[in-house]
Amino acid sequence: MKKIRLGVNIDHVATVRNARGEKYPSPLRAAILAEKYGADSVTIHLREDRRHINDNDLKSINSKLKIPLNLEIAATNEMLKIALRHKPSFICIVPEKRKEITTEGGLNLNFNKIFLKKIIYKLKKNKSRVSLFIEPNQSDIKKAKLLNADCIEIHTGRFCNLVNQNKNFKNELNKIKKAVTLGNKIGLEVHAGHGLTYKSVKILSKTKGIKEFNIGHFLIGDSIFVGFANSIKHFKKIIK
Ligand code: PXP
Repeated sequence: MKKIRLGVNIDHVATVRNARGEKYPSPLRAAILAEKYGADSVTIHLREDRRHINDNDLKSINSKLKIPLNLEIAATNEMLKIALRHKPSFICIVPEKRKEITTEGGLNLNFNKIFLKKIIYKLKKNKSRVSLFIEPNQSDIKKAKLLNADCIEIHTGRFCNLVNQNKNFKNELNKIKKAVTLGNKIGLEVHAGHGLTYKSVKILSKTKGIKEFNIGHFLIGDSIFVGFANSIKHFKKIIK
């Protein structure tokens, strides 16, 4: 059986750098170290407002990384052009709102379907693996298949919030489980991410059929206390 992959999201290394307008801490250094410490891929989100990762980060990381780079982008013409130029191995299309603190929900697949289909077609033709970041609901999974995505990434934010608040997460977990089952059944590779901690990923990793977890904020935060290597290794151990 194929192992479950860990994608390390390093956006918040750039957040810390940008807080002071300095050159450090370097996202490139974080990407190279993530690779060294066992990450299976590195994720960066090039936001339209460039609030963390910027175009130079993308260029340098994409040219130096040996493991796959997973580039998260909004479905816009600007981002499509950038993604086609850099040809990262993996692309995840995410919704984006200027005012949100983080990606608050999954994509609205009823909106701009024709444009989404065109973007997916072009990115796949350019040899990038394309994933859609969606809520764990059955109709969006079917729509993702119709749009011809390779993968779906299930937004785990609501589930993680419930776990963090020690609230009942059973309904949310069931939705995710059903989403994973349907995704696998119709031939989509299923990933999960957003808000994951050691505790929430431990619960989710018992769900068979999730092939990749993408984890950032908690992992970067815990690195302050336990070190980047240890945080990555701990996540790897939990999901294996
Ligand atoms: N997956 C996707 C598609 C995301 O947009 C994000 C946040 O950028 C993550 C995973 C990682 O979320 P977190 O930083 O909360 O671990």
